[in-house]
Amino acid sequence: MKKILITVLAIANINAFAQKFEGLAPTPPMGWNSWNTFACNINEDLIKTQADIMVASGMRDAGYIYLNLDDCWHAAERDSLGFPQADPERFPSGMKALADYIHSKGLKIGIYSDAGWRTCGGRFGSRGHEYQDAYQYAKWGIDYLKYDWCETDEMKAEECYKTMSAAIRAAGRPMILSICEWGTYEPWLWGSNYGHLWRISGDIYPCFDCEDRHDDGLPTQWSAWGIMKILDMRDNDEMRKHAGPDAWNDFDMLEVGNGMTEAEDRAHFSLWCMLASPLIAGNNLATMSDATKAILTNAGAIAINQDKLGCQAFKWQTFGNLEVYAKPLANGELALCFLNRGDATIKHTIDWSKTENIHDAVSKTDYEFDKIKFKILNIWTGKSMGTTKKATTIEVPSHDVVLMRLSGI
Ligand code: GLA
Repeated sequence: MKKILITVLAIANINAFAQKFEGLAPTPPMGWNSWNTFACNINEDLIKTQADIMVASGMRDAGYIYLNLDDCWHAAERDSLGFPQADPERFPSGMKALADYIHSKGLKIGIYSDAGWRTCGGRFGSRGHEYQDAYQYAKWGIDYLKYDWCETDEMKAEECYKTMSAAIRAAGRPMILSICEWGTYEPWLWGSNYGHLWRISGDIYPCFDCEDRHDDGLPTQWSAWGIMKILDMRDNDEMRKHAGPDAWNDFDMLEVGNGMTEAEDRAHFSLWCMLASPLIAGNNLATMSDATKAILTNAGAIAINQDKLGCQAFKWQTFGNLEVYAKPLANGELALCFLNRGDATIKHTIDWSKTENIHDAVSKTDYEFDKIKFKILNIWTGKSMGTTKKATTIEVPSHDVVLMRLSGI
């Protein structure tokens, strides 16, 4: 009897540990991450400066709450007991002090590790140290862990993320778990059991439609991908079935402000909003232009991303180089994004009385344009575009978008 009871308790315990912390990401997480601009060149002064600017620039108040350190915060080795420690030269005050500073700014702090032996930047990975690492992060006051997939040999992705999820649970501090295995093992099918978001692609690159090959002649050849390449990489209709509160397809960190044209940045940001992707800025906030700030903090675009229905957009219509994405919103509203992938401006007329109605099985929403009329807000101009009682004509410049929000009259 005693043995049975112990067994039952043990199973109950394992199950408790096997559950991620729920409710941490009811809408896609928003924040900033060091990697896209600074790669391995990070230190505590730089991070504190970015924290200060997140507040002063209005980014925090626009919703960017997580300040995430990426790779290379680590010391050369773990401490003598195997616990992780920060690079004493770059982070002389230690991680706890940095976390306290970030929290004092009304922000939350994220950190980075890797399921394998080494991180992608060659620092110590969490393999075999998962519980120690989660414990240490909790002690430091970490709120978010991005967990990468380098040097994982033949390991099984789902098992590795399950282990880290259980380790976080055991450590007892709620942390978002950001699964970063690049979509290789279809994380949309299992990721929501263990984490709150999962990357669906290899690394992003700040170009509209290029492939940035890292071709050193070795079998380890890899590419970073432009915005259109990431948009097209997976079966979006399949992935979106698995997205929703606490479970987001992560199209990778933003490249807004990192070298594309303003139109391309606007298109990139609009699409990530439509796709309910996490919005993790990746630019240097200290040198951010007004145009970049205006894109990143546009309240109308962010509201589409953060909509409570938590629905990921689908490609609704295609007219040559013009693609129309639709994102059902709460309360019967709808976001539409007209993307021009081509090199010339496209003029397009939407005759609402003749356009196909939307019946989206995933969100269980219907938009019957022939029966219900909407008013139309142009998100990027902030101006009304009238209603769907009459046809609407738009002009979409090359590599740009027109982003609309339709609401009931
Ligand atoms: C991988 C990830 C990136 C970044 C680097 C750090 O490439 O996909 O987002 O975290 O590792 O080394």
